[in-house]
Amino acid sequence: MFSVQPIGYVRSPYKDAREIPRGLGTKHNADGVLEVRQELELGLTDIEGFSHLFVIWVFDRSEGSELLGTPPSDSRPHGVFATRSPKRPNPIGLTVVELLRREGPRLLVRGVDMLDQTPILDIKPYLSNVSQEHLKRGWLAEAEARTHP
Ligand SMILES: C[S@@+](CC[C@H](N)C(=O)[O-])C[C@H]1O[C@@H](n2cnc3c(N)ncnc32)[C@H](O)[C@@H]1O
Repeated sequence: MFSVQPIGYVRSPYKDAREIPRGLGTKHNADGVLEVRQELELGLTDIEGFSHLFVIWVFDRSEGSELLGTPPSDSRPHGVFATRSPKRPNPIGLTVVELLRREGPRLLVRGVDMLDQTPILDIKPYLSNVSQEHLKRGWLAEAEARTHP
């Protein structure tokens, strides 16, 4: 019905999904590079002013989808749209990274949780106007409370 082309690829230290930290309380600190296609470099104009970016990407090495699944951060099943599972009807990932610096069409970032050579669909500045007091963390908060009462 519609088609999308990668705007670039992620260079990540992770060659195998088992190397990527997962589970409750995981912090992603790995450095990586967002290599944007040369002909799209103009689209990065003024991106340097943003400390964090949304990266929208494809789970290109994930197979099938599960509407209900048990994530590594809990022992109970949850609906796919209430989790960040790679097994989704549309295999699209979303990661917030810290922008360290730009070298032409290459963005050096911190906080990647994607495999090396993951296709990037889009990059947007990270902006949030949701205050902490209005933010609800659903089942994740309950799982955290059970683990660290
Ligand atoms: C739980 S998902 C969360 C990804 C993203 N932060 C999100 O919320 O959409 C992260 C996991 O996706 C898997 N993964 C990363 N890159 C992938 C790729 N290119 N294809 C398939 N699975 C991938 C790895 O197993 C990694 O631990």
